[in-house]
Amino acid sequence: MKDRIKEAVASGAIQHMAFIMDGNGRWATRQGKSRNEGHKKGAKVFEEVAEYCHNIGIHHVTVYAFSTENWRRPEDEVSALMRLLSSYLDTAIKRFREKQIRVVFLGDKSVFPKKLIAKMEKLETITKDHTDILNIAFNYGGRDEIVHACREVIASGEEISEETISKHLYTAASPDPDLIVRTAGEMRLSNFLLWQAAYAEFYYTDTLWPDMNAEEIDKACAAFLLRKRNFGALPEEAKLN
Ligand code: IPE
Ligand code: IPE
Ligand code: MG
Repeated sequence: MKDRIKEAVASGAIQHMAFIMDGNGRWATRQGKSRNEGHKKGAKVFEEVAEYCHNIGIHHVTVYAFSTENWRRPEDEVSALMRLLSSYLDTAIKRFREKQIRVVFLGDKSVFPKKLIAKMEKLETITKDHTDILNIAFNYGGRDEIVHACREVIASGEEISEETISKHLYTAASPDPDLIVRTAGEMRLSNFLLWQAAYAEFYYTDTLWPDMNAEEIDKACAAFLLRKRNFGALPEEAKLN
């Protein structure tokens, strides 16, 4: 990473970076492997990407791992993804303790088997005091999240407002994403962080998720740093005209 970019990122230019991890299936097909092998490789890369982002000073990282719509996939692919999550969780506590990262699962856990829920909650509880956050969106949908948040606001007796809804989103512990990266050439959100993406910058790459690496992340950061973010206001130079 170029020093200039490194410094900007380390000094907090990107507080929250989110990834739509797409292209595991295409990667596997191209290699003559099964889709499930693509997901396995994708899980490994996810680990490396999350670690790299935290190392360069991005304090909040979110990855989209399984959407509320992904249940529409063939049963054997869905169960392979569930098994992958479960085996990942078996070694995760030790790793995230060492890395000092707090893990938060975004999405409705209640549909998972009790044993899996217990593992997810254990990881969340054990890591809860770390300040850097890794959000793992699993059985996550942006629309589902907004409905869930509204229900919670109503149940709590609070008024519906932008603040109260934000407070009840699964991502309540993180700021809105600055940058959303999608791999594999698709240019859509696929129900990801619909509320939180209001002012996010988007970055798309043709690279398939299993080929994602530090260099690609550096490129995304560099592109982000060239963007002008006005949040609806006028940029300074335009005010002079
Ligand atoms: C992303 O890769 C992983 C999940 C959605 C679980 P895909 O499985 O969508 O890969 P492609 O789009 O078929 O290549
Ligand atoms: C989005 O990828 C969901 C995740 C990355 C978990 P998909 O591959 O499921 O998205 P679509 O169906 O192409 O929009
Ligand atoms: Mg896909």
